[in-house]
Amino acid sequence: MAELDSLKPGVMYESVVVTNPDRPNAAGVGIERVGQSIEFTSYSGSNTYDNILTFDIFSVNLFAWKDLDKIIIAALTGEGNDNQEFPDHDFAYFQCGNMEAPYLSEAPLVLICRIIEAKRLIKRDDLGAIPILEVTAEVLDIPSYEGIEPITRDKESLLDAAVAATRARAASGETRKRYSRLAGRVIKKFGNDENAGSVRIIERYLSDVLESE
Ligand SMILES: Cc1cc2nc3c(=O)[nH]c(=O)nc-3n(C[C@H](O)[C@H](O)[C@H](O)COP(=O)(O)O)c2cc1C
Repeated sequence: MAELDSLKPGVMYESVVVTNPDRPNAAGVGIERVGQSIEFTSYSGSNTYDNILTFDIFSVNLFAWKDLDKIIIAALTGEGNDNQEFPDHDFAYFQCGNMEAPYLSEAPLVLICRIIEAKRLIKRDDLGAIPILEVTAEVLDIPSYEGIEPITRDKESLLDAAVAATRARAASGETRKRYSRLAGRVIKKFGNDENAGSVRIIERYLSDVLESE
C-alpha cells in the first residue's frame, strides 16, 4: 500500500482510534508506522484498552492540523465511560470478511487495521505502575486517502524540550536536574531523522548546563 509511505517511520502521529463496531468508541492515540504495520500503546482504564482485547479490527483516523479538535474531542470526551465522543452519523463501517471496522467518515486518511499482537505490560512512570497494551497491527486497507500533513507531536514537543532546557539553565540543584531530565525524556521520545538537528542543539545546550553546575 503506497499510501502508507506518507507516514514516516519513527514519527508519532496523533490519531483517533475507533474501536467496537457495535458501539463505536473514539480515543486520541499516538501511533507509529513500523514497516507495513502500526504500533501504539493503550492504557488500562480506557474503553480502547478493553475493546482491543475484544475486537481484532479497528481503524486509525488521521486528520490535518486544521482539524486538531477531532483529536482533542476523542481524547477528552467519554474517557473510560459510555459517553459517545462523536454522534452516530459521523461513523461509517468498512467490511472486513464477516467483521466491520467503524471509522470516521470525514477523516482524510483512514487505516483499517487488524491486531497482530497486544502485549500486556506494566508501565512505570511518575504516576506509578499502570497496565498497558503494546499493540502491533497490520494495515488491511486504506478507504480514505487525501494528501494531508497529519498531526504529529514531535515539533511541538521539541519546542517544549527547548523551553525546559532554558528553565534548567535558569534553575539550580534538584530543580535544574528535573528540568534537564524532562527535556531529555522528550528528546528521547520525539527525536527522529527529521528533527535530528534540533535534538543535537538541545543536547549540547543541556550538557553545557549540567557541566556548569
Ligand atoms: C494527544 C493525545 C494523545 C494520546 N495518546 C494516547 C495513547 O497513545 N494511548 C492511550 O492509551 N491514550 C492516549 N491518550 C489518552 C486517551 O486519548 C484518553 O484517555 C481517551 O479519552 C481514552 O478514551 P476511551 O476511554 O474512549 O478509550 C492521548 C491523549 C491525547 C490528548
